[in-house]
Amino acid sequence: MNKYSVKELLSTDHLHKEVIVNGWVKTYRSNRFIAINDGSTINNIQCVVNFEEFDDQLLKQINTGAAINISGTLVESQGKGQQIEIQVREISILGSADPETYPIQPKKHSLEFLREKAHLRVRTNTFAAIMRVRSTLSFAVHQYFQKNGFLYVHTPIITGSDAEGAGEMFRVSTLDSKNPPLTEDGQVDYREDFFGKETNLTVSGQLEAEAYAMAMGKVYTFGPTFRAENSNTSRHLAEFWMIEPEVAFNDLDANMDLAEDFIKEVINYTLENCKEDLEFLEQRLLDEEKSKPMADRSDMPLIEKLKFVSENTFKRVTYTEAIDILRNCKPNKKKQFKYLIDEWGADLQSEHERFLVEKHFKCPVILFDYPAKIKAFYMRLNEDGKTVRAMDILFPGIGEIVGGSQREERLDVLLDKMKALNIDEEELWWYLELRKYGSAVHSGFGLGFERLVLFATGMGNIRDVIPFPRTPQNAEF
Ligand code: 4AD
Ligand code: MG
Repeated sequence: MNKYSVKELLSTDHLHKEVIVNGWVKTYRSNRFIAINDGSTINNIQCVVNFEEFDDQLLKQINTGAAINISGTLVESQGKGQQIEIQVREISILGSADPETYPIQPKKHSLEFLREKAHLRVRTNTFAAIMRVRSTLSFAVHQYFQKNGFLYVHTPIITGSDAEGAGEMFRVSTLDSKNPPLTEDGQVDYREDFFGKETNLTVSGQLEAEAYAMAMGKVYTFGPTFRAENSNTSRHLAEFWMIEPEVAFNDLDANMDLAEDFIKEVINYTLENCKEDLEFLEQRLLDEEKSKPMADRSDMPLIEKLKFVSENTFKRVTYTEAIDILRNCKPNKKKQFKYLIDEWGADLQSEHERFLVEKHFKCPVILFDYPAKIKAFYMRLNEDGKTVRAMDILFPGIGEIVGGSQREERLDVLLDKMKALNIDEEELWWYLELRKYGSAVHSGFGLGFERLVLFATGMGNIRDVIPFPRTPQNAEF
């Protein structure tokens, strides 16, 4: 007798075989039909019991959430709704789940309620589907880069530098925070700390990836990054995963080509390999849409939206063109935006990004050549002296999904920039050496993995696409 996953039982031909399956009870109805699932697929396998043949005490323990082991014969189903079922011969209860206290009952729970139960929510169909899509996407990311000759580089989690210069870092320290050693002028003396200097959790692996690109040509990192920004939004996490390719000899145009091709391919892979989960998530959204006012309803079902993005060219526009559009658009003139755009140089808020993508261009947009003042220090200065070779990719329903740039490869220009921004040259001595020895044009980008998962699953809140979300005031699990 062989042990199978539910997916194997449902998808391959084991008909009339004696089989064993382990899983968790989804439902038990009419004293006869047990639906079980083991996480391998969105579908349950139905197990049919002849209750007269089993002990009452045992049957009483078959409750939603219980872990059970079943052996029996795989037969064609008599009933509607499934093709195959198990005629049960033996049942053992591996772990019961008290129906009085088990929180995940077979009814619709709100996403907010389930966030409080992050350790159990993956037992629901919705979260299991999301996490399978997440896992597939993550495989597709590695596959894309490996297939295209990129080296996977593991950049450090603990760093001594602030890659984005935005000061949104989590400090890493072994000093006694209540009673730290002080320098003569009363500052915390980090020379006494574990590493002998101030360190933090990385906000981006970019700077280290640049070092590797300048030897290995095409590299990427895919790892956790950390931001202590206090933005309690549906698009921000304090701990998120970022995909960061970096390519020597690529300019900004090549960088945009790479980003667009990459996104399309991983979405395509997911469309092909997560069909049932995406259909489930799409249906879930359609059901939810029914309760929304017409104006808030999405104009495209999930799968159509994913296909649309993977098949259509992203619109490329400069920041300056975008500002002109925004300045003159109705919502800006009628003061419907929270932040009004009235001058060149203003940073775009997510309401502007979403207007451009969802209302104006109606497709993903790559904005490039941003004002130097609103972008990070490492971006390459254009000939105009006021814009940099930056690009952001904006997605429908998401806003910014990618941030990237061609990097400043000229030592003198980079030094001037760092001086102007008060960035310590000594801190980044090694980064500067990359410009001293064998410097060359190079570029790269960062894609927030959870924002990609949000898009692919159609979910509305980033807290629902990562297993254990970290947000301000929340690290319960
Ligand atoms: O635009 P960002 O800050 O760019 C960088 O960190 C560059 N060093 C990347 C590079 O060029 N190698 O972040 C990149 C992306 C954003 O576009 C967004 O998708 C995501 O990371 N991101 C976040 N995702 C979730 N929560 C947050 N708090 C995020 N901050 C950025
Ligand atoms: Mg950005």
